[in-house]
Order: sequence, then C-alpha cells, then structure tokens
Amino acid sequence: MSRASFDKTAILYNFLEKYIWEDYTIICDIIDEYLTFQPEEKIIDVGGGTGLIAKVLRSKKQNDDIMVIDLSRSMLQKVKDTTLSVVQGNVTTIPLRDETFTLAILINTIHHIDETKQQAVMREVFRILKKQGRIFIIEISHPNTFFSNLFIKIEKILVGKTYHLTTDKMQRITQEAGFHEIKVFSPKKYPYRYVTTAVK
Ligand SMILES: C[S@@+](CC[C@H](N)C(=O)[O-])C[C@H]1O[C@@H](n2cnc3c(N)ncnc32)[C@H](O)[C@@H]1O
Repeated sequence: MSRASFDKTAILYNFLEKYIWEDYTIICDIIDEYLTFQPEEKIIDVGGGTGLIAKVLRSKKQNDDIMVIDLSRSMLQKVKDTTLSVVQGNVTTIPLRDETFTLAILINTIHHIDETKQQAVMREVFRILKKQGRIFIIEISHPNTFFSNLFIKIEKILVGKTYHLTTDKMQRITQEAGFHEIKVFSPKKYPYRYVTTAVK
C-alpha cells in the first residue's frame, strides 16, 4: 500500500467504519467474544490507523500501555486519545525493540500489505513480542460473489489494491514466523470474518 492511499481517506475513515461498512460493530463483537486479556498487558495495535480499535481496548484496559503503529500520518493524526502512544512506521520493518509487547492485534491490516511482504510483517510482530506474547488477528475472507468482488473494487478505488489471505495462508505465515498454538475461528454471526490467535 502506498502511504497516500490511507492518507486521503483518513478524514472519512471512522465514519465509513462506523456507519457505512458497519465494520466497527462487527470488530467490537468479535473482540468481545474472542480476545482475552491478561493483567498488565503491553499492547500494540499493528496498522492501527485512527486508533478506533485501540480506543476500544483502552476502555477494557485502562491502566495498560497501548501503542498504535501505522504508516499513514493522516490516519495517526486522528488518534485523539492521548493515553494511546503513537508511532509512524512501516510494519514490514517495525522501528521498535525486540520483546517489548505482550499482545499484538492486527485488525484488517494484513490484507493491505503486498502479498510478498505479509510474511515479513508476521516475523516483525513475532520479534517485538515478549516470550509467551500473543497475536490476535481479524481478517476478511472473501467469497467469490458479486457483492464481495464489488466491495474489493470499491476498496481498491479508496485505498489501493488489497491482498486477502485464505485461512490456510494465514496459518502458514503465522507458523513460519515462529508462532505456536495457532488457532483459527470463524465467528458464526460473521461468516466472512476469521480470527487467528497464536502464541510466541
Ligand atoms: C483497514 S485499515 C485498519 C485500521 C485499524 N486496524 C482498524 O481496524 O480500524 C488498515 C491500516 O493499515 C495501515 N497500513 C497498511 N499498510 C501498512 C504498512 N505497510 N505499515 C503500517 N501500516 C500500514 C493503513 O495505513 C491503515 O491505517
């Protein structure tokens, strides 16, 4: 993805997520059902954009460190919650120290990364997690239907080409990055989403 792609939609991003795609509600539901926290987490939201989801995490973990990393400066400028720390950077080469975080979340991030670089992102997330640190990923699985293909075309106009992964590929790159205890869930209520969790 070019940085400019999300820079130009940043102004509308939260509105689209909340009221047009309704992605926000879906993600909040999935987080409620599948994401468990431990005491004193150090959380990084990888490709966290405007901090929409980091804010949801903040409401659940009021005293823990939560960082948002994203390539798009305009998206990060929309992170208004000053209790969240913000870093601008490319998640294929994360500019942060090894073994820093206990939990990394990637919500609709990977499919915006060129398929030749998705493995590098997983390796980078593995590197910055502490031992026993966890990864929590929500992605979209696109069936080859008219509406799904239309959605991908609209997404391409708004933010550039996307590279949706099959659950098999997601499992493979997670494993190749070094993670274990890999689990993939398909929420009944949201058949076109899947959740991947794993441990370092
Ligand atoms: C669909 S948005 C998701 C934002 C957030 N996770 C959420 O659910 O609201 C994808 C985000 O990934 C970011 N992104 C895409 N490629 C990136 C890269 N190589 N490095 C860092 N961020 C990237 C975009 O700038 C954008 O903010």
